Order: sequence, then C-alpha cells, then structure tokens
Amino acid sequence: MRSNRYAVIVAAGSGKRMGAPLPKQFLPIADKPLVMHTMERLHAFDSEMNLLLVLHPDYMTYWNECVLQHGFKITHSVVAGGEERFHSVKCALNTIADMNAVVGVHDGVRPFVSFETLARCYEQAETSGTAVPVIPVNDSLREVIGVTNRAVERSQFRIVQTPQCFRMDILRSAFHQPYTTAFTDDASVVEAAGYSIHLVEGNRDNVKITTPEDLLRAEWLLGRA
Ligand code: C5P
Repeated sequence: MRSNRYAVIVAAGSGKRMGAPLPKQFLPIADKPLVMHTMERLHAFDSEMNLLLVLHPDYMTYWNECVLQHGFKITHSVVAGGEERFHSVKCALNTIADMNAVVGVHDGVRPFVSFETLARCYEQAETSGTAVPVIPVNDSLREVIGVTNRAVERSQFRIVQTPQCFRMDILRSAFHQPYTTAFTDDASVVEAAGYSIHLVEGNRDNVKITTPEDLLRAEWLLGRA
C-alpha cells in the first residue's frame, strides 16, 4: 500500500532580495499570489496529498484574506514558521504523526515543478527513504579561494531543487539535531544525521523565484498557460 503523502510548502521568509513591499511568495502573478500557483501545481499532481503551508505569523491574517478574495478552494493547513527555514520546516514536521508518510518539503516560490519531477521525488523516497531533485550545471564554475580562484570540473556538481522528499521517520530524527548555518536545505540536515541522499532528475523550469526578472518570466509563463 502506498504511503500517505505530505507537502510542506515553506513560505515563511521575508523575501528581502526582491526589494518589494510584500514577501515574494505573496506577489501577484497572473492575478493571484505566487504561492497559490505552487499549491495548485501540487494539488493537480496528487489531489490526495496533504498540503501544509508554513507562513510567518505576521502574514496569517493576510493569507486568510487572500484565500477569501481569490476563492481559493484547495484544502490545506497553515502552520506558523520560525526564525530560519530549518525552524519553519521543523514547525510543520511537529504536526505530522504518521512516521511512514512520505514528506516533500517544497519552496513556496517554485510554481514550475513538473509532474514528472514530483513523481520521481515521491516514488524514489517511498522506496529508498530520501529523494532530492537536481539538474546539471550548464555554466562554467570557478572556486574562489581567498584572493585567488580556479576552474572546477562542472560535471561533478549539480544544482539542487525542491521538493526534497523523505520518509517521515528519517526527517523526524534529522530535525532533532541542533540548527547550524550549514543547513541551507533539508538534504543537508538529513545528510548530517547520517543518511545518504538519493538524487533524482529535476526540471530546468523549476526555478526558485528570487529576483524581479524571475518574477517577470513567471508572469509570462503563468499568464500564457
Ligand atoms: O531565503 P530563501 O529564498 O533561501 O528561502 C527559501 C524558502 O524558505 C522560501 O520559500 C522562504 O519563504 C522559506 N523560509 C521559511 N522560513 C524562514 C525563512 C525562509 O519558510 N524563516
């Protein structure tokens, strides 16, 4: 029997890099907040998936207003986030009791994850406990060492995306570790707890909307759909 599936949608950041008055996950594209597009994509992939949206406590009321204003019907729970992404994920995990569930942690600002990527992530995590989507590096890379720098072999590196999927018992034990700044994503937390990370193919469109240029491109892609 297939495990229950959860998606923890992290959207509790302040989105400083965009320089906009609203955090980027709430910026309207194609007439609704960016994070609604992300949630619609996850729901369209698997309508039985449990959606947990993690928000900054200051934006809870704002979100409720958005839900009403846009007639957003997808069932979801809202969880208050924490200081760093790590703490926000941990707050959501504290609400999941089913240790056999497969939990994907997905950035609220990645609305272009493909159904194929989602299937690869959830299916791989079901069989091996961990699954992280990656894509190859197209650009050349240089390593900066103090005041010097040198070329590195780009074929040895991958760009990491979300959803990062894990069996819940693995996530629960990994997130018991004390926070360090090295925890930039969930794979780094799970790896530090001693588990190996299985890589699956991501999709190149699955970008994290970060800059005003990303937002314009997203507007074009979503408006066109
Ligand atoms: O800051 P960064 O872009 O790396 O954040 C990645 C994701 O983590 C974003 O979706 C952001 O909203 C979320 N986040 C969070 N809680 C925080 C910080 C970031 O949910 N305290």
